[in-house]
Amino acid sequence: MTPTASPHADGAVRVRGVIKTFGVGDAKTVALKGIDFSAAEGELHLVVGPSGCGKTTLLSVVAGTLDWDEGDVSVFGTRLDGMGKGAVTRFRRSNIGFIFQQFNLIPTLTLVENVSVPLLLNGAGRRTAEEKAAQLLKQVGLEGRGNKRPTQLSGGQQQRVAIARALVHEPRLLICDEPTSALDSATGHQIMDILSGVARAPGRCVIIVTHDPRTHRYADRITEMEDGRVTRVLDGAALGEFVSMTH
Ligand SMILES: Nc1ncnc2c1ncn2[C@@H]1O[C@H](COP(=O)(O)OP(=O)(O)OP(=O)(O)O)[C@@H](O)[C@H]1O
Ligand SMILES: [Mg+2]
Repeated sequence: MTPTASPHADGAVRVRGVIKTFGVGDAKTVALKGIDFSAAEGELHLVVGPSGCGKTTLLSVVAGTLDWDEGDVSVFGTRLDGMGKGAVTRFRRSNIGFIFQQFNLIPTLTLVENVSVPLLLNGAGRRTAEEKAAQLLKQVGLEGRGNKRPTQLSGGQQQRVAIARALVHEPRLLICDEPTSALDSATGHQIMDILSGVARAPGRCVIIVTHDPRTHRYADRITEMEDGRVTRVLDGAALGEFVSMTH
């Protein structure tokens, strides 16, 4: 057992000794080299490190969207390794939300329809899903725009729709890959305020991969990666020092 600050410190995500290799022979890349990573309930946890160090690969493993070669992965105490693909998909649909750098909105659907998708996948009726979607759009500051399409919005507005979609089914774990990199400063802070609020809700956890130093001051913990491994986990005074140096 790793010593932890609180009884729930490993409660949301626990990754132990995970190895992930892409390709074979000369084209082989070992993206994760026996990595350990933990995130707690009630925590906004940043993952930082140079391009190519394995951040997106780690998130994909935690989300159950990418198979890995060796090691253990648990999300809220449920072991993902050894679970069948169908079971992982069902677990993901009810427990995990994603926000990607490129938003991944469906251009032919309206905003309300885009945000409804996770609820429809979980079996909700259309009317219930669209009502909940409209509520979420209001929460991210896009009230009354539900009938627009993604192409009619700015980058920051599209990112807020992506956040609404990621939160609409109230996932306990929210995973975000570079959620603020395409945004101006004011919009970036708005998005981080929303994500901090989500992380503070009981039993929830937000993990954010970022290159954006403006996000550091929102973190409860920061995991630093390099070349497929964790090099440092910062919290308390060390985190404060890191934030003041990089902000
Ligand atoms: N599908 C893939 N096929 C082959 N190699 C891959 C694949 N995905 C990632 N890699 C390799 O694995 C390593 C880690 O990639 P990853 O995308 O996790 O990095 P990252 O830290 O997210 O980088 P960035 O900050 O640029 O997004 C890199 O060397 C990358 O080239
Ligand atoms: Mg990446």
